[in-house]
Amino acid sequence: MLLINCSNQEKNCFNILKNIQNDDDKLISLSNKKISFCLGCEKCQGDLEKHCVLDDFITNNVYEEVLKEDTIIFASPMYMSNINGILKNLLDRFNTFYNHQLLKGKKIYLIMTGYASKEENESEINAIIDYFNGISEYFYFDFEFLDYFVDSEDQNVKVENFNRLNAIKSKLKR
Ligand SMILES: Cc1cc2nc3c(=O)[nH]c(=O)nc-3n(C[C@H](O)[C@H](O)[C@H](O)COP(=O)(O)O)c2cc1C
Repeated sequence: MLLINCSNQEKNCFNILKNIQNDDDKLISLSNKKISFCLGCEKCQGDLEKHCVLDDFITNNVYEEVLKEDTIIFASPMYMSNINGILKNLLDRFNTFYNHQLLKGKKIYLIMTGYASKEENESEINAIIDYFNGISEYFYFDFEFLDYFVDSEDQNVKVENFNRLNAIKSKLKR
C-alpha cells in the first residue's frame, strides 16, 4: 500500500499513517516539499515521459509510486471544512491519469483529522465523501472513507482515537 501524508506538518495525519504502515508499505510525506499547482496546460493528456511538464516532488516522486500500488491511503487535515489544499492540488495533478485511465481499479482510502468532533464535522465529511465518489466515476477508482480523528489532548478522545486506529488496522489486515 501507498500511504500519503497530505499535511504540511508531520503531526496528526503523519502519525496515524506511521501507525498503520506495515513493512512493505511505502509512506510518502508531502510536508515541506516543493510542489507546484497544476498549470491547466493539459499537456498531460498527451504522452509525456514523466506525466507532467512540471518538475517538482509530485512529478519526480509521487506519480511513479501511485502507479505502482493498487491501494492508496491519503491522510488530510480538515481545513476550512474541506480537504486541505495540498490534497486538492495532488488530485488536480492526477489529471494526467485521466486519459489513459491509469487509476482504474485502484482502491483509494481517505483518513481525516480536525479539531471538531466527528459528529460536528458530519456534514463536511459527507460532502467530502460525495466529492470523492464523484471524481471516482471519471477515474474508475474505488473510494472509501476510512475514519476521522479528533485533534485533542483530552484523554477520552485519545482513547477513542486509539480504538479507531485499531479498527482501521484490523480492517486493512493483510
Ligand atoms: C488553516 C486551518 C484550518 C482548519 N480548519 C479546520 C476546520 O474547518 N475544521 C476542523 O475541525 N479543524 C480545522 N483545523 C484543525 C486541523 O484540521 C487539525 O489541527 C488537524 O488535526 C491537523 O492535522 P496535522 O497535525 O496532520 O497537520 C484547521 C487548522 C488549520 C491550520
